[in-house]
Amino acid sequence: MRNRIVVVGSSNTDMIVQTPRIPRPGETILGGTFNTAAGGKGANQAVACARAGGQVTFVARVGRDMFGDQAMMGFRQDGINIDHVIRDETAPSGVALIIVDDQGENSIAVASGANGNLSVSDVEAAAEAIESAGIVLMQLETPIETIEAAAVLAVQNNVQVILNPAPAQVLSDALLRQITILTPNETEAEMLTGVGVHHEADAAKAAQVLIDRGVTSVIITMGASGAYVHSAEFQGMVPGFSVSPVDTTAAGDTFNGTLAVALAEGKALAEAVTFANAAAALSVTVLGAQPSAPDRNAIEQFLKKNKS
Ligand code: RIB
Repeated sequence: MRNRIVVVGSSNTDMIVQTPRIPRPGETILGGTFNTAAGGKGANQAVACARAGGQVTFVARVGRDMFGDQAMMGFRQDGINIDHVIRDETAPSGVALIIVDDQGENSIAVASGANGNLSVSDVEAAAEAIESAGIVLMQLETPIETIEAAAVLAVQNNVQVILNPAPAQVLSDALLRQITILTPNETEAEMLTGVGVHHEADAAKAAQVLIDRGVTSVIITMGASGAYVHSAEFQGMVPGFSVSPVDTTAAGDTFNGTLAVALAEGKALAEAVTFANAAAALSVTVLGAQPSAPDRNAIEQFLKKNKS
């Protein structure tokens, strides 16, 4: 399989406050610490791919501002091809306000800025990169028509499409039919199917709904329990790894980025999910989105130490 991965998606700067718990509406909580980190689901996935050893092209928009400069510098440092990262002349770079509690759980609000301008013509301008890739990896923080156009272009050229439906929104059957692997978490799976996902049996039901709507394979990520996989060859849980969480932000992004790398290398789906589970477990032990994406060596060492 062609092993280059094209990530189409968002880039944000994350403003992170750690507090003992997430405040209720109208409540102020004191005592937090503040950090900034590079984020955005698309950029996080591109960075996770690159650090895991993938050859990555990122299709995105950032503003012509300081945050955009910092993001571009980070992409270059991670060896990501940024020929199709556009500096938007009208909108600022995306920003996310993130609160992380003592259990590592988060609450996120995003000002999309330039991400909202990622257009079908931006995807068309990246057609050569998409057509010659092995996998196109996308999320839902950029306009849906852009995602749909990239999916059609990929499928027309026999390129596999991984869609991480985050944040969840209603998706058309036409889009779902283009998806090789859909990777919701439990909440997103419930939003897409109406099936509450708490245990393996629920995940199996939700996955079947998505398969019936036209997706080829489904992976429902279920935190430390691992991931439920439904493909033609394998149906069942791929166990996760238990770690002490510091910040779960971007665990799903790390999962998706490293999954794409493992699949592009030709690993079978269940083995690729184990690799991605390990990377996601490592990511929750570090504060921040992109700072937490592990490199290949760290993932391999972790897998060796935690062999089942
Ligand atoms: O998935 C985590 C990401 O969601 C954060 O980095 C934030 O920027 C939002 O996009």
